Amino acid sequence: MTTRPPAARTAQAAPLTTAFGPLSISFDHRVLAPREWTTSQSHWARELLDGAPPGAVLELCCGAAHIGLLAVHGTDRRLVCVDVDPVACDYAAANAAAAGRAELVEVRRQELGSFSAAEPFPVIIADPPWVRSELVGCFPADPLLAIDGGADGLDPARACVAVIDRCLHADGSALLQLGSYAQADLLRAELPDSLVVVETRAEPGRGLVVKLVRPDTTGEPGARA
Ligand SMILES: C[S@@+](CC[C@H](N)C(=O)[O-])C[C@H]1O[C@@H](n2cnc3c(N)ncnc32)[C@H](O)[C@@H]1O
Repeated sequence: MTTRPPAARTAQAAPLTTAFGPLSISFDHRVLAPREWTTSQSHWARELLDGAPPGAVLELCCGAAHIGLLAVHGTDRRLVCVDVDPVACDYAAANAAAAGRAELVEVRRQELGSFSAAEPFPVIIADPPWVRSELVGCFPADPLLAIDGGADGLDPARACVAVIDRCLHADGSALLQLGSYAQADLLRAELPDSLVVVETRAEPGRGLVVKLVRPDTTGEPGARA
């Protein structure tokens, strides 16, 4: 149950700028401020790109797009960014331009549930809201849309898994951010047969990232690394 009033999403916002790796990222209080620890998700995605099939990177729930932009930094990969929030989409486009990637980044303002693409994606990054609704009041500075994950915190993550299942390349990898091992275990138990978790990397006290692949690309289904 949400107990705090909605953030002042319509109030005038002064843009802020922060470093995210070598990138300069603009945002304001209407979107989630970049979290330094999530550079690790970008770096992991960047590692995966070296051995990945050709094609664009997909970032679901991109916010200001810093995680995706850092993942493709130094490569010629295209990036497709998806977020339902128009403010986030504006910042994603501005940050792509600031990174010199305006031509290589497509920002799609869209609900996860309606996302489709003609191409499979070799790497998918997903950063859904994962705070349980009853706890969002603990984070008064964060916009509700960016953090509220529903009763068990997994509703948007489930929607991300559905997109990943539809759009992941047969030899691709998806990196999905969650809040806890408990959430990872819950989600793993619900996965379709066409996806498997093969590795988990945690940032203690902050969150974790699970790697999903197609089961026929791994010999160790469901292993937690
Ligand atoms: C946890 S924030 C992540 C933002 C950014 N990646 C970051 O790490 O700062 C989640 C993002 O998901 C977006 N979002 C929430 N529900 C969504 C939905 N149903 N479809 C698409 N985007 C959604 C929010 O607007 C928000 O930008």
